[in-house]
Amino acid sequence: MNIHYKNTNIKFTQKVYEPAEDSFLLAETALSIIKNSENILEVGCGSGIICAVIKKNTHAKIMGIDINPYAAECTRDNGVEAIRGDLLNSIRGKFDIIIFNPPYLPTDDSERTIGWINIALDGGTNGRKIIDRFLEDAGSNLVDNGKILMLVSSLTGIEEVESKMKSLGFQIEERNTERFNFEQLVVIVATKARK
Ligand SMILES: C[S@@+](CC[C@H](N)C(=O)[O-])C[C@H]1O[C@@H](n2cnc3c(N)ncnc32)[C@H](O)[C@@H]1O
Repeated sequence: MNIHYKNTNIKFTQKVYEPAEDSFLLAETALSIIKNSENILEVGCGSGIICAVIKKNTHAKIMGIDINPYAAECTRDNGVEAIRGDLLNSIRGKFDIIIFNPPYLPTDDSERTIGWINIALDGGTNGRKIIDRFLEDAGSNLVDNGKILMLVSSLTGIEEVESKMKSLGFQIEERNTERFNFEQLVVIVATKARK
């Protein structure tokens, strides 16, 4: 399957998350924030749509990481360096920006299925299981004043995500928001305070 978005052709397969409103909102926000040659990591890169759009439309240096090996492969097929890995566990450097469209849907045991698409969507019982784990580590992979760009939904608990970010020392700004069916999507920009 193929889509064309922001001057970029993106190929994807059934084993990766199909680009959707959340992907587009986050890509659009990233393009409005990137100024020149920032060093950027996208966690949970999926098809690679956000990475590929950034590579095509900016001078930033970007790479992706995803726990789904087919996603890392698909991102590479879309022209961006990507590796397989669990959140930031295998990432050693510091970045100016880390982007994440996480699995954010509250999912209980009866809703859980087996497969890579479940892993793309399943945020645990409260929707924040992966987000909280990511936030605990993100500060160590950001330069001072570095930014996290994260998409969340009203279903995830936007206030709860923001208060977790604040408790970890980030300054918060809601940058872009869009109503989509039964949920509100928001891109939060969390800036790491300078030491
Ligand atoms: C909602 S999809 C977003 C995909 C793509 N960034 C987009 O916006 O279209 C979430 C992605 O996070 C990945 N993911 C889930 N848990 C992960 C983890 N522990 N480490 C890395 N990636 C993870 C999934 O495999 C999936 O590709």
